[in-house]
Amino acid sequence: MTGAVISTDINDYPLLTRGKVRDVYDLGDRLLIIATDRISAFDWVLPTPIPGKGKILNSMSHFWFDFVKDIVPNHVLTTRVGDYPVSLQKHKSQLDGRSMIVLKARRIDIECVARGYLVGSGYKDYRELAAKNPDSREIDLYGNRLPSNLRLAERLPSPIFTPATKEESGHDRNISFSEMAQNVGRELAERLSRITLAIYSKAESYARKRGIIIADTKFEFGFIGDELILIDEILSPDSSRFWPADTYVVGKNPPSFDKQFVRDWLESSSGGAWDKNSPPPPLPDDIVQKTLDKYRQAYEILVGR
Ligand SMILES: Nc1ncnc2c1ncn2[C@@H]1O[C@H](COP(=O)(O)OP(=O)(O)OP(=O)(O)O)[C@@H](O)[C@H]1O
Ligand SMILES: [Mg+2]
Repeated sequence: MTGAVISTDINDYPLLTRGKVRDVYDLGDRLLIIATDRISAFDWVLPTPIPGKGKILNSMSHFWFDFVKDIVPNHVLTTRVGDYPVSLQKHKSQLDGRSMIVLKARRIDIECVARGYLVGSGYKDYRELAAKNPDSREIDLYGNRLPSNLRLAERLPSPIFTPATKEESGHDRNISFSEMAQNVGRELAERLSRITLAIYSKAESYARKRGIIIADTKFEFGFIGDELILIDEILSPDSSRFWPADTYVVGKNPPSFDKQFVRDWLESSSGGAWDKNSPPPPLPDDIVQKTLDKYRQAYEILVGR
């Protein structure tokens, strides 16, 4: 594996955003999205990269865009650096295998979340609603009627759509379907819900047959003219919860497929007794290696070689 890409420096175009993992440049009517080797945990970007992770995630996202293109068109134009503008050719080493040029869309400011399993903020909100209505046999979770006896990480009777606002700073806020419908219009809200669940269900059943549970995931959509398209990245471990199916048990918080070693190490005393409120410590080599192996394994399982 060649050197890690921690941060990119493409001075020919304005930097639009530097997220936790990706750098996005503005090419006018298109965007250049680069997946770096940065890794985040507990909402912090760690000081140590996972060399090659960006390539794996870029290629995984590309695979999924293609896999669901019968459901909805997407923003991908090309991932071949040879097809990029001439001015970008000199940056080949920062771009190769880890970038894509996409159509710039008018983004719809909603995170379209699909959940097949009850965990994370979905579980937390479900528990709070259940505590408020202890005698009720049904819970209304953001407009979805669920039985009131579900346990942590339990598979839902059928996948649900739980939209969230995209917040400029801080955490996204879960909203009900009706609040979303007020924001974007009922017809579009229904369309997004339908597409979100269709993509999730197709990907989830594919992955589950191969031993990976996609517990939940989020999509972003936008418009090019009046055509609705899928944007951002999809179905990567950064935008989804991946669990190993072989150790899954209802009632327990399953380990994350990819970041399990990183999280465990950061939470152990060897992790420098990190308090999660200050910059995190660097990762030791063996944790970097084991984590990279997990990304490779996820890639091989889902995409094949
Ligand atoms: N085709 C597109 N058209 C317009 N905007 C897009 C498109 N694809 C992705 N985006 C936007 O580009 C940005 C990508 O940034 P990125 O997700 O890397 O960082 P972030 O969302 O700021 O932070 P985080 O790392 O927490 O996700 C997002 O705001 C996303 O909505
Ligand atoms: Mg993002």
